[in-house]
Amino acid sequence: MDRLKTITFLCFFFSFSDMITSTEICPSSLCRRTEPVIQFPFRLTNIQPKSCGYPGFDLTCDITNQTVIELPNSGKFIVQGIDYGTQEIWINDPNDCLPHRLLSLNLSGSPFTGACYQDFSLFNCSLDFGKYRLKPITCLSGSTYTVFATSGSMRSIRKFSSTCSLISTISVPVQWSFYEQVLSSDLSDDLRLRWVRPQCRRCESRGGRCGFKRNSGQEIECTDAPHHGIPRSAQYVIIVGGGVPAFLCVIGLFCLICSSVKSYGRRPNPIVEFTRQPTTKAGLDGLTIESYPKTVLGESRRLPNPNDNTCPICLSEYRPKETLRSLPECQHFFHADCIDEWLRLNATCPVCRNPPQRLPLAQPL
Ligand SMILES: *[C@@H]1O[C@H](CO)[C@@H](O)[C@H](O)[C@H]1NC(C)=O
Ligand SMILES: *[C@@H]1O[C@H](CO)[C@@H](O)[C@H](O)[C@H]1NC(C)=O
Ligand SMILES: *[C@@H]1O[C@H](CO)[C@@H](O)[C@H](O)[C@H]1NC(C)=O
Repeated sequence: MDRLKTITFLCFFFSFSDMITSTEICPSSLCRRTEPVIQFPFRLTNIQPKSCGYPGFDLTCDITNQTVIELPNSGKFIVQGIDYGTQEIWINDPNDCLPHRLLSLNLSGSPFTGACYQDFSLFNCSLDFGKYRLKPITCLSGSTYTVFATSGSMRSIRKFSSTCSLISTISVPVQWSFYEQVLSSDLSDDLRLRWVRPQCRRCESRGGRCGFKRNSGQEIECTDAPHHGIPRSAQYVIIVGGGVPAFLCVIGLFCLICSSVKSYGRRPNPIVEFTRQPTTKAGLDGLTIESYPKTVLGESRRLPNPNDNTCPICLSEYRPKETLRSLPECQHFFHADCIDEWLRLNATCPVCRNPPQRLPLAQPL
């Protein structure tokens, strides 16, 4: 009986020490309840150790508990949202004058790039420019002059150039492609930037957790994701804990079960439930739903489709910082919460009734 106790102890000691995943070493964090959740590749420098974040992804909380990122050549920005699935981050100026920051924005040296870019020319005009019906950039304008930005054609730019002075033409990372040919914009919408490395998109879309491989420098691994039917953590236990400890463990467990001495509670694995999505009902499974594009609205609530400011499912208006999801092909937008619920029960778009295209499922990392 004493030997059995020793085996049991060894078994649990080894399996638990091996089952410590990056989720446990680097739990998610945030600055305040309404702020973005921070996890790999990002880290909060004062809470999470260096090994929890990828270089260039350090975040801090400011005195009002807002999430802040400092870009190497461009200074500090407020983080409005992070989408780990699409590898995108939304940032804005803490002093609410993004156009001022755009004039000197230089993303080189940071891991981020714009999703798409559009050239805007900034003009400084005397006050009687009102006949052009342009949207002034109030934070750059003064009592005797007004600054505005246009992405209009060369001809309109030349027209402005004769009555106004051109401050600069800047390449602006823009959030939506319908931004094209904007006569004027106050450029206050959150900057939408994305990162390519580290590549954790597939891991995230499988419901896994990305992190540094232990004792391996910069190598990335995906834990807790379902992988050929066996949870990643279980594979890890099998591989790393292989040999004597695992053997003892199996024998120990076997003995325990055979003699029915005790039953031990096991650590629940949420991923197992994730894979247990019913496939026979009429709706879509979680992985398919997660593969549809998500967007977080900025403070100025610029909508993907300006004529459509209400979620067709819950009939409430979109608010800043809410997450929308669109269906590929039909391009209808909804609150992510609302459409996700709907799609779990129905495999069609609630507006046009077309079945949304099934995007190819992500492969394991
Ligand atoms: C920020 O968070 C701290 C601790 O969570 C709290 O004590 C403080 O009141 C918060 N400050 C603001 C401005 O929300
Ligand atoms: C951005 O910063 C880098 C490094 O400081 C510099 O080499 C590069 O010329 C800058 N680019 C622009 C467009 O200013
Ligand atoms: C715009 O022009 C006025 C003078 O006409 C000048 O005082 C002001 O600094 C200029 N503003 C910018 C942002 O260039």
